[in-house]
Amino acid sequence: MTSARISDPSLLSKVMAADAAASLITPGTTVGMSGFTGSGYPKAVPMALAAQIEDAHAAGDDFRIRVWSGASTGPELDGALAKAKGIEFRLPYNSDPIAREQINNGEMKYFDMHLSQVAPMAWQGFLGPLDTALIEVSAILPGGELVPSSSVGNNKTWLDRADKIILEVNHWQHEALRGMHDIYYGTALPPARVPIPLVRPDDRIGQTTLRCDPAKIVAIVETHAPDRNLPFKPADDSALRIAGHLLEFFGHEVAKGRLPAQLLPLQSGVGNIANAVLTGLEDSPFEQLTAYTEVLQDGMLDLLKADKLRMASATAFSLSPEAAEELNRDMELYRQRIILRPQEISNHPELVRRLGCIAMNGMIEADIYGAVNSTHVMGSRIQNGIGGSGDFARNAYISIFMAPSTAKNGAISTIVPQASHVDHINQDVQVIVTEQGLADLRGLAPRERAQLIINNCAHPDFRPMLQDYYDRASRDSYGKHSPSLLTEALSWHQRFVQTGSMRR
Ligand code: COA
Repeated sequence: MTSARISDPSLLSKVMAADAAASLITPGTTVGMSGFTGSGYPKAVPMALAAQIEDAHAAGDDFRIRVWSGASTGPELDGALAKAKGIEFRLPYNSDPIAREQINNGEMKYFDMHLSQVAPMAWQGFLGPLDTALIEVSAILPGGELVPSSSVGNNKTWLDRADKIILEVNHWQHEALRGMHDIYYGTALPPARVPIPLVRPDDRIGQTTLRCDPAKIVAIVETHAPDRNLPFKPADDSALRIAGHLLEFFGHEVAKGRLPAQLLPLQSGVGNIANAVLTGLEDSPFEQLTAYTEVLQDGMLDLLKADKLRMASATAFSLSPEAAEELNRDMELYRQRIILRPQEISNHPELVRRLGCIAMNGMIEADIYGAVNSTHVMGSRIQNGIGGSGDFARNAYISIFMAPSTAKNGAISTIVPQASHVDHINQDVQVIVTEQGLADLRGLAPRERAQLIINNCAHPDFRPMLQDYYDRASRDSYGKHSPSLLTEALSWHQRFVQTGSMRR
């Protein structure tokens, strides 16, 4: 490794080993990390820090830190620090299994929040002080300007707000990433805030680099380590059928004149189902698509490659190892058609509403009235977090939630009498899709919604149970606007907790 990527000679004296950099992070402090899904997160310093935390614990000392990031990260960060029992508090999103276990055991505090709100909340001062920014970049330019790597996330905010900065310069990240990013510096808190001047998904409104005060840089560590996302599960029959229902729906909306032929900017959420829908779009009649979304998954890359997608705007790549290698190989090509922005811009409610995004997100469960639970299994065990789903769902032109109609080998119905936790109220949910079919809920009253969801989306094994519940609720409920049997509405979940199945 050389220092060819550090072109400010005054900063070369700050280059050091990961161990030395990690020792600058002290117990009880808050670290703002780069990273959004398994992309662009620091890889060497968190591992070194985890080792130091383990040593401190072995010596009987308490050593935990507070971790902020863009969203989830990779195993070298959340995985390593959680394994060392080194995270006291985490925000805003997590998908690491070890951290998830500690959160659900009550060992780790977790603030699961809308991703667009992290930066503004940090600036408003609600999250407390930020001691260190630990940011992966692909290069350092003269004067301390930074070329971001494969995600932008909250890096701008962490660099501006932190007392001190540690940089990881990752030589694995392609040099042609330079120029792909669009970092907007025009955000301000009310009453000084002004409209964000972005009116089309391909507008560039900022600069290609991150600003950084060189005086705050205390360490630079050079790495050569790949981003690590889990591979996507191959699209199964259920995912393909969900994709089929959605494509038919889009065709219908175009025929009705409610969507243009090239649709509207697509937002596609995290997870296997969302990725499978993108794969389905590849064989669809739609051309010249655009994406204004949070992450670019394998499916988006395939759409770009197939020339179905004209351009994509996001805050991060979220690619399987094979797709990440492919992107790196053809970076010069993709660079022209991809823009990576800070997450407060990629997910900004003002922009999602203005652009008229079509939001497509996965869910844990939906109830018969259309309220959606994206986060909590059986109402109390968090799976990942709300992520950007709320940023998009409430403000989208069409807000779609999708899932297979059953989970855990058919033991669980994802359509339930009442959601055990609500992330998206029924007013924010316009379309629900399972492999069974699609329910277009726009303009429908609660009882119309319930019957449509039961008929179109529920699995045949659970449909009679739902119909029976709904019929009795319609007869015996205290009110008849949204019929509910209060003592029974969550009994399906309780049965699962007690018996391992929602089936009677
Ligand atoms: N009850 C219990 N477990 C359930 C469940 C339910 N109703 N629905 C899903 N699950 C489990 C699955 O069994 C699976 O578990 P496993 O990993 O142990 O096999 C896991 O949740 C993931 O489900 P999967 O069917 O593979 O779907 P997915 O990868 O598409 O993820 C969400 C679905 C809801 C977890 C995911 O979309 C998510 O985290 N959403 C919230 C954040 C978000 O929407 N971000 C996008 C904004 S841009």
